[in-house]
Amino acid sequence: MLLNVLAVAAVSAAVLYVLYKWLIPAAVQNSGWLALIWHDVIVERVLNILTGLSRPQRMLKAVQKNATKGDPQSVIAAIDYYCRHKEWAMNVGDDKGPILDSVVSEVNPSTALELGTYCGYSTVRIARLLSPGSKLITVEFNPAYAAVARQIIAHAGLQNKVTLVEGGSGDLIPKIKEQFGITSFDFVFLDHWKDRYLPDIKLLEDCGLLKKGSVLLADNVICPGTPEYLEYVRNSPRYKSQYFQSYLEYTKAEDGLEKSVFLG
Ligand SMILES: C[S@@+](CC[C@H](N)C(=O)[O-])C[C@H]1O[C@@H](n2cnc3c(N)ncnc32)[C@H](O)[C@@H]1O
Repeated sequence: MLLNVLAVAAVSAAVLYVLYKWLIPAAVQNSGWLALIWHDVIVERVLNILTGLSRPQRMLKAVQKNATKGDPQSVIAAIDYYCRHKEWAMNVGDDKGPILDSVVSEVNPSTALELGTYCGYSTVRIARLLSPGSKLITVEFNPAYAAVARQIIAHAGLQNKVTLVEGGSGDLIPKIKEQFGITSFDFVFLDHWKDRYLPDIKLLEDCGLLKKGSVLLADNVICPGTPEYLEYVRNSPRYKSQYFQSYLEYTKAEDGLEKSVFLG
């Protein structure tokens, strides 16, 4: 009797493990929404309980263990490896990352703004490409994420190029000129909550923080999606806009970046 109970328990545990580790992740790979619900809601909560750490803290540990201090590329590689093989996270990721890199390199911004820092993955990607003397301001309203991002940016040795501001984008944007002495941004990466993309670029316009030739790059325009933002930048005579197709981070579901040049 006891042996039967143990056998049933062992088989059930094995089935659950296979489901959790391989079958469900494979099944949700091609659907952005299912992938987000599985990884971002279910797995994250289970791992938080099991490890007593948050997902950003687990990512930070992976960076501290596997990345070389002062080497941004190794920080990026450590995060991508962790997110592909251990646990999904909402970084721009290694499919869309090279698109971000090529736009940053093409613009070669002196002044750059990132809305939505999370753990600093895209911050590191952008800051490592900046020319000497250039500056990146990155904005994050979650203090726990900001604390992790500061450590990851420092691990990459990029703390002198980056100013991380804690607070909401809508509160910060109107104060940027006065607080940081910046007249306009050459490059803006939008990667915060999707319903803020449109109000925040309108705020950037109203505050005079965009000049002719400023480049906006928006992540996740397909998944989770930013329909009002796309409608605006694609139809406004003030922008020339282009879509770059790719995949939602660490999945096979379609997502992409929208590059929009401000025409004045
Ligand atoms: C998708 S994650 C950013 C990922 C990051 N850019 C990367 O690729 O590594 C979005 C982040 O934006 C932050 N956020 C959302 N809305 C915000 C707002 N209005 N102001 C500041 N931060 C915001 C969230 O807390 C979250 O950390």
